[in-house]
Amino acid sequence: MTIGIYFATTTGKTEDIAERLHGLLSNCNSPKDLADLSDLNEFNNLDAIICGIPTWNTGADYERSGTAWDAMLEEIGGLNLHGKRVAIFGLGDSSTYTENFCDAMEELHSFFKKAGATMVGYVRTSDYTFDDSKSAIGELFCGLPLDEDGESDLTDDRLIRWAEALKKEIPGLT
Ligand SMILES: Cc1cc2nc3c(=O)[nH]c(=O)nc-3n(C[C@H](O)[C@H](O)[C@H](O)COP(=O)(O)O)c2cc1C
Repeated sequence: MTIGIYFATTTGKTEDIAERLHGLLSNCNSPKDLADLSDLNEFNNLDAIICGIPTWNTGADYERSGTAWDAMLEEIGGLNLHGKRVAIFGLGDSSTYTENFCDAMEELHSFFKKAGATMVGYVRTSDYTFDDSKSAIGELFCGLPLDEDGESDLTDDRLIRWAEALKKEIPGLT
């Protein structure tokens, strides 16, 4: 069982969360910065992938993250990831950017889906205060939103619960 954690970041918060998540899971590879990844075919050698993505391009339909993920979306969509579980966590700010909270998660989610991955790690929107988000699909976010700008006191609890949920949804993850 080989499970990878990948992140991209502008001010370091998504990297910090990737490290904290790694500490809650016993058999994941160390988090990798997407900016240092030369070949996305690395994903083909994994059984499951956990991805961290912040939102910087407020209100954008395309390239919402503003990080290295944006340039790789099309390539991700062209991979064959059938049979692999993929989970996404997103960094955002639910009060300052309350109309676009963690919008980038959904864009990444759609390209992994296009690649045939089985998407896991959805969480209830009712646990958050925000006005709108492209990542909210009905009553669920298509990943785990985290707000280190205004709600950092809630992050530990959210991460612990998500890690436990992933252990049920990703076979072999402990
Ligand atoms: C100029 C700017 C634009 C932002 N746009 C959004 C946004 O549209 N939606 C959101 O949820 N957060 C937004 N944020 C908040 C960042 O996503 C948040 O600070 C995040 O933790 C940054 O992660 P990073 O340090 O890994 O880059 C924005 C922040 C700034 C400064």
